[in-house]
Amino acid sequence: MIIGSKLLFYKNLPSTNTFAAAMVRENSVPEGSIIITDYQSAGRGQMGNRWESEENKNLLISIVLFPSMIHPAEQFLLSTAVSLGICDFLRAHTGEISIKWPNDIYVKNDKIAGILIENSIMGDIIEHTIAGIGININQEIFISNAPNPVSLANITGKQYDLTESLSLLASCLDKRYKLLISENYDILRSDYLSLLYRRDQWHKYQDQAEIFTGRILKVSDTGRLIIEREDGSLNEYDFKEVEFLL
Ligand code: BTN
Repeated sequence: MIIGSKLLFYKNLPSTNTFAAAMVRENSVPEGSIIITDYQSAGRGQMGNRWESEENKNLLISIVLFPSMIHPAEQFLLSTAVSLGICDFLRAHTGEISIKWPNDIYVKNDKIAGILIENSIMGDIIEHTIAGIGININQEIFISNAPNPVSLANITGKQYDLTESLSLLASCLDKRYKLLISENYDILRSDYLSLLYRRDQWHKYQDQAEIFTGRILKVSDTGRLIIEREDGSLNEYDFKEVEFLL
């Protein structure tokens, strides 16, 4: 086992990602180490947002990886592998799971997990990766202005043992990471595509120019979203260049 080979538990931290990055800079942290906490006072989400998580209710982890086999141009594979590991874990408990590009994990139309991947890149090498994961497990009420949070408890009405959940999650992530190490990129890419939220369905989107109707076709190897318009033309988007409308 690589992911989960070492567990570092802290009762509370500002942010497991920030802490993990400091550890990597200062110490030798073995690959696959998981930093886990019960509470983050400054949990970080994408685009500078906060990540809400009630104390002792959810999984809040950061994994330290040294993916030197991945070229920085293919770093989206890391996001792909981590997203799929989370989906594999959730599938043990619920259905209707999808990945909203680039890496929000959804159940139906609600977000159950978020991923914050931070890569340290030097030239052509990814020196290290901190893969931060927040999965809503037992929290029942969300107070932040996040648009659509949901937890496993909200979906199933059950409560879950966080230690058991962590162990299953680590093994699911480990399997996906090993596919990455063994260069099974096709499996990772096709599994990601098959779980892509709203793929092949016509919906409204907004880019810098306008609101338009389109359908998601796929994600490029560099992680750009490819949307077809009603006139048959294709557009490629980077993160935050296109918004999903209802
Ligand atoms: C998102 O905005 O969807 C990403 C959320 C990522 C949250 C996790 S919780 C554990 C890790 N530590 C952080 O500060 N953020 C990530």
